[in-house]
Amino acid sequence: MAIEMGRKKSEVAAYTYKPMRNTSVNMDFKHELESLKEQLTFNGRIKDTNYDNIVIAGMGGSGMPGRIFHELYSEKPVYLVDDYHIPNFVGPRTLFISVSNSGNTEETISATKQAVEKGAHIVTISKGGELVKYGDEHIILPKKNLQPRSSIGYMLAPFLSSFGICTQKELLGVYKILDELDKDNEECKQYAVEIFKGEKIPVIQGSAPFKTVAYRWKTQFNENAKIFAYANSFPELNHNDTVALTHTYNKKAFFFFAFNPQYERIKKRLALTSELTNTELHVIDAKGKNTIEKLFYLMHYGDYISYHLSKLRGLDAKDISVSLEMKRRLA
Ligand code: PA5
Repeated sequence: MAIEMGRKKSEVAAYTYKPMRNTSVNMDFKHELESLKEQLTFNGRIKDTNYDNIVIAGMGGSGMPGRIFHELYSEKPVYLVDDYHIPNFVGPRTLFISVSNSGNTEETISATKQAVEKGAHIVTISKGGELVKYGDEHIILPKKNLQPRSSIGYMLAPFLSSFGICTQKELLGVYKILDELDKDNEECKQYAVEIFKGEKIPVIQGSAPFKTVAYRWKTQFNENAKIFAYANSFPELNHNDTVALTHTYNKKAFFFFAFNPQYERIKKRLALTSELTNTELHVIDAKGKNTIEKLFYLMHYGDYISYHLSKLRGLDAKDISVSLEMKRRLA
């Protein structure tokens, strides 16, 4: 059995879930969420982006900025690494960006070491840790006591500014949108109540340019609320999930979210999906004047649902002790 590899069964059984202690000394998770709007002023910047291709390594919360960037940017080939190994094409004309909040995530370090050997230009984004040993350039994240997934603004800011994804003025608009949601997230709480009462599994149906945001919701449900969730996006999901929707087991176990699509063909697909499969989709409308405002609004909206759900479940949204135990045992 895979679980027994390299470790005695008794040792495996010894780990039981222990909620984190002394969390009061850290920032409350709600405050972590409220800090997002301030994070976008972070001025970390990649000095030179003039390379032929871009490879971005990062895991979990630290993988998210690369994923978001990948969906927004199409000037050059971008390849994401969420594993130990890098693609063969990496070489001196590659801009290799390694993101790890702690700077100590083994998959990211392994990939970065390989990129060093291939002569890529390495930019590290972290609060410190081992990763900084391998960078040609380092973007040091502010040493705030935030969970990696709550530092998404700090980690994303260098991508947004260095590649001209959005202007400072647009980021100011984002501040306002996020601030409003911080002050009133009652709607998110109501969704959390429905999911909690029905013990539902959220299914999030994204669409361009917010496919990654659907995935972010999934990971926030996983880490903050500690429940399974599933994300896919239009139009791809019409070629697989839609078929399952007609005959799946216990459809009542799922709670279906969809983001209000930007494009007419996708709007039509969403309506047809609901009609043909007789599925109630809870459609979330992204507020905002432009893509970047909408992206942050949607992302933060999902953050709040997962946060409220963690509270309803009596769990600490910050607590990822099983994941940390995994890292400790692998070290
Ligand atoms: O949000 C989290 O805490 C995790 O998903 C981490 O980001 C992930 O385990 C990788 O760790 P790090 O961000 O330190 O590289």
